[in-house]
Amino acid sequence: MENRPLEYDYSVSKLFIYNTLFVGFIGMFVGTYIAWEMAFPSLNVIFGDGAIAEYTNFSRLRVLHTDSVIYGFVLSGVWATWYYVGQRVLKVSMAESKTLMVIGKLHFWIYFASSAVIVVSLFMGITTSKEYAEFEWPLDLGITVIWLLWGASIAGLIGLRREKTLYISLWYYIATFLAVAMLHLLNNLEIPTYYASGGIGAWSHSVSMYAGTNDALVQWWFGHNAVAFVLTTPIVAIIYYFLPKESGQAIYSYKLSLLSFWGLMFIYLWAGGHHVLFSTVPDWVQTMGSVFSVILILPSWGSAINMLLTMKGEWQQVASSPIIKFMVLGSTFYMFSTLEGPIQAIKSVNAIAHFTDWIIGHVHDGALGWVGFTIIAAIYHMIPRMFKREIYSKKLMATQFWIQTLGIVLYFTSMWIAGITQGMMWRAHDEFGNLAYSFIDTVTVLHPYFIIRAVGGTLYLIGFVMFIYNIYKTMSARQVEESELQNATPMGA
Ligand code: HEM
Ligand code: HEM
Repeated sequence: MENRPLEYDYSVSKLFIYNTLFVGFIGMFVGTYIAWEMAFPSLNVIFGDGAIAEYTNFSRLRVLHTDSVIYGFVLSGVWATWYYVGQRVLKVSMAESKTLMVIGKLHFWIYFASSAVIVVSLFMGITTSKEYAEFEWPLDLGITVIWLLWGASIAGLIGLRREKTLYISLWYYIATFLAVAMLHLLNNLEIPTYYASGGIGAWSHSVSMYAGTNDALVQWWFGHNAVAFVLTTPIVAIIYYFLPKESGQAIYSYKLSLLSFWGLMFIYLWAGGHHVLFSTVPDWVQTMGSVFSVILILPSWGSAINMLLTMKGEWQQVASSPIIKFMVLGSTFYMFSTLEGPIQAIKSVNAIAHFTDWIIGHVHDGALGWVGFTIIAAIYHMIPRMFKREIYSKKLMATQFWIQTLGIVLYFTSMWIAGITQGMMWRAHDEFGNLAYSFIDTVTVLHPYFIIRAVGGTLYLIGFVMFIYNIYKTMSARQVEESELQNATPMGA
């Protein structure tokens, strides 16, 4: 794809990698803790029911989990790869432009500082109460600045490029930038409502410019596309670069990658209605959401099959290379969750699935399998090249892979059984129409599944700690010659 001699500057990419590891650990630790809270509710008040209890309860911690894994772990991982991949596929070094270096550093540090404020504000319970868009308006403004800085970095690198062709990964990064900018601005239109007597959160309070059904509709147009453009398109960008590099294979079909790209772009934006089925949203919007969700299988599987077929003729690498294992299983989980999602979007299925743990299962086979594994694999690929060191232990990497895979399997299978049991019990009734079960019956029956999920989450977290350790030991090991490194894994560039 590109020639060697340029000295790429990885300082910004490294900062984002450190943050991916740090926030990834915090976010998954909190996720594991709330999973145990659901199994054993007394953990909600582990320090007693005094002043501190509000900070350890499920409702306060859940949002810290979701926002730290999505906007901390995933976005940092995406930006770590952007500052690595962008330079390489455009054949331009950031070090060639002082402005680009400043933009990159500002991008990281403003993001880092805003994340710290976000964590404090969420701990304090200051939220807009819109899922995945909980931040109040001052933080929304900060996020806008961060996003614009990323945009400036993309435009800047493209402006200076020596390589004319924009490699497919760039298309996906650019789409991520444009779509999230639009989603963020439109969903967060709000009016600040300073009130005098409300303590520290009062001056940052606001109300949405949308009300009732419109608010729900815009929110889930945003929510669904946050999944599309934070948990899907940038991850596709990552795998389209790293899988060919790591395996030494060319992408199976460039045409298919473009076809899937435009398919995803066109279809994703209309599918958000599947989050508000059976609500007051107009019926045609709900039906459109369902129909577009089912069609979405095509471009999603187009991308996934393209990734898997890239390994054609080289399947032995799946057995021999743990990094390839992560990427191939990641792509398989992508196929899996993009089949499961459309099924859940069919109205009659959604009538059982909505509000149940089956949705949580769907979220996590995508998040842990597809998103988590792809980011982990990309970091394992980048670190030896950035630090000119061999990976500390391939054995540890393989063990991590199996422990985390077992964790994911326990997570989603338990949530499938729990969710379908829950959905069936909620709707069961006798011949007079009386409900067969009280709500608490449907909660107690879930207890064993909550324990299995918490064990699965703990395994995934243990694997993540092994990952951090392996990366740390790699960074602090003896430097090797480039040629020695090349023997370790196919490098290409
Ligand atoms: C073809 C692609 C997909 C379709 C059609 C789809 C469809 C759905 C449906 C129907 C729901 C449940 C809505 C409800 O009843 O509450 C849902 C929830 C969700 N999906 Fe997907 N899904 C897809 C892919 C993915 C992927 C790849 C991820 C990535 C991890 C993902 C993450 C989520 C999340 C986070 C939620 C929960 C949102 C919430 O209620 O907070 N989905 N999806
Ligand atoms: C150790 C790993 C993890 C564990 C144990 C874990 C656990 C949990 C738990 C217990 C919940 C609350 C479920 C409920 O309200 O019933 C949750 C929600 C959620 N988690 Fe995780 N999680 C982990 C990793 C991740 C990662 C890596 C991501 C994203 C990249 C993620 C994204 C989400 C999302 C989007 C929700 C909200 C789902 C919804 O509202 O439908 N999680 N997680």
